Amino acid sequence: MAVTWDSWTRLTHWLLVLAVLLCWISYEEDYLQVHQYSGYLVLVLVVTRILWGFVGSIHSRFSDFVASPRVVFHYLRGRKHNASQVGHNPAGGWSVLVLLLLLLLQATTGLFNSDDLMFDGPFHHALDSSWTDRFGAMHEWIFWVLSGFIGLHIVAVLFHQWVKREDLIGPMVHGGSHGVRSPRPIWLALLMAIVIGFGLYVAIQYAPKPQVFW
Ligand code: HEM
Ligand code: HEM
Repeated sequence: MAVTWDSWTRLTHWLLVLAVLLCWISYEEDYLQVHQYSGYLVLVLVVTRILWGFVGSIHSRFSDFVASPRVVFHYLRGRKHNASQVGHNPAGGWSVLVLLLLLLLQATTGLFNSDDLMFDGPFHHALDSSWTDRFGAMHEWIFWVLSGFIGLHIVAVLFHQWVKREDLIGPMVHGGSHGVRSPRPIWLALLMAIVIGFGLYVAIQYAPKPQVFW
């Protein structure tokens, strides 16, 4: 059966939900090792999802759901867009981009961050402290912006689900049943995720370590 959301897009979504929750809880509970690894997971998932936006299944591609501002404007003013359209609606498409970008920024700034006590992100010593301080501050405020967008995202999904009676959650769980073109194989995305994860691992191994003065 052809699906709206291929299995990789769905897996990415629910893993992202778990990983972001874990990042937040682990910070609150002061488990920075857990925070670090859940942050790496977010980074690998988001970078893979961005590449998947170019080579993935039709409805996961940016070209399929990033509409022009004019189309978004008409959609928001209540004009019906193509009713038979499958995939993200014009406003939803842009919110996907914003969410992915914020997640990317959140996870990358974390790599340079430090608690100035026991824990340094892997690239904290790669830059001057004027830069790492800036990234640390960004890591803090981007989280608030990200939380706001995630809240909006959930409210929008529930509004469509309950008020407009459009089932969005079902397809994000089981894929949906619209007859669209065949999905790309999940192994391709998995391979991309492994390569990206390995690249991150190598970069961390070679990252400058703190200088020790005896
Ligand atoms: C940490 C929390 C969350 C994050 C970071 C997040 C992020 C995202 C992202 C990036 C997408 C785009 C999917 C893609 O094309 O790859 C998306 C779509 C979606 N999300 Fe979430 N999400 C979160 C929580 C939730 C929750 C709790 C629900 C269920 C109530 C949900 C339901 C959906 C649905 C139904 C879509 C597809 C929307 C559509 O059909 O256009 N999300 N989400
Ligand atoms: C999307 C992924 C991430 C989320 C949602 C997240 C969230 C947060 C939040 C909310 C804080 C508290 C900010 C503050 O009030 O100072 C924080 C602090 C921090 N994060 Fe992340 N983070 C993520 C990824 C990462 C990564 C990948 C690393 C590094 C490997 C990292 C390292 C740190 C460090 C070192 C702190 C400072 C802890 C402290 O001051 O006690 N984070 N993060």
